[in-house]
Amino acid sequence: MRYIPTNHLKKDMVLGQDIYDATGMMLLSAHTILSEQNISYLAFLGVKGIYIDDVGSKNIEVENVVRPEIQVTAVQIVREMFTGAMDEQVDVSEEEKRIQEVVEKMVEDVLKNEHVMYNLIELKTYDSYTYFHSVHVGILAGIIATKMKLDEDEIYDVIMAGFLHDMGKIFIDRDLINAPRRLTESERVRMMEHPERGYEFLSKRFHFSERVNRAVLEHHEWYNGMGYPAHKKENQLLNLARILKAADVYDAMTSRRPYHQPYLPSEVMEYIMGRSGMEFDPKVVEVMARELCIYPVGCEVELSNGQRGIVKENHKGSILRPTVKLLDTDNIINLFADRNARNLTIVKLMM
Ligand SMILES: [Fe+2]
Repeated sequence: MRYIPTNHLKKDMVLGQDIYDATGMMLLSAHTILSEQNISYLAFLGVKGIYIDDVGSKNIEVENVVRPEIQVTAVQIVREMFTGAMDEQVDVSEEEKRIQEVVEKMVEDVLKNEHVMYNLIELKTYDSYTYFHSVHVGILAGIIATKMKLDEDEIYDVIMAGFLHDMGKIFIDRDLINAPRRLTESERVRMMEHPERGYEFLSKRFHFSERVNRAVLEHHEWYNGMGYPAHKKENQLLNLARILKAADVYDAMTSRRPYHQPYLPSEVMEYIMGRSGMEFDPKVVEVMARELCIYPVGCEVELSNGQRGIVKENHKGSILRPTVKLLDTDNIINLFADRNARNLTIVKLMM
């Protein structure tokens, strides 16, 4: 399987994985041969890219940390919770039950697939609007928590907090949230109210643990105390909030937002590593730098000698040096272990 950005798809390519639309319906199933219409429809829906099967990518397996259908269900529930938040008629305990069920399934997957390195693409079918972003942050935070060897309760809570972290934004002007420009000072102050508004709302309406609500409250605090709302730092902050903070920034920066194009995973990791100990908890950064794939399996890369290939495998602790299958010769180069590959670097990632 290999990943192809939607604008590089061609007629007659064969789909490698099922594709769901944003409401959870299956749009196209694996092995479908793409038509021109399929491709323009995917582009219309805002699908960024998909996996296809072809000869060059044979034997390249992409493993999902969380089953795609569970991700889609999570997005649906989060969407309902956000849109129904002001509605007094909503059966809140039913909502609680549904989100708890989906978080439980995610914990199960995250623990079961602990050996799988987080592959950014699996979560990035769509550009990130609020609900997708919330679910991505929950999953990524859950994966980081798992790699940090936190216990199961904490993994559960951090996924839940990720789903709900921006809930306070429902009390803030929509125009402000999607403004494709720099906010004025007073707008910024209003925007910065969302963690507290979210905390108050969640505490009043639901019965999630205090740890979930507090992680939401603290998700914009910085490790050095320069964040908001309370300027807490280091151990004053919940461990889960420190994980959430890093997962939120990672997902936001790798997504297309009204005010910026997506950054490459490697650029975002560089940013996060550069702010370790300031904005981010060094322990969280260390885990991310070791465990997140910045060259996701299945993606096409260009090497410094001009050859192109597909990422076949990542190596823990050496995320800049994956194993690559060359497109022209089918040869396999392990940038991490092959002696004669020492001078080669990756210069480009197709995303
Ligand atoms: Fe936020």
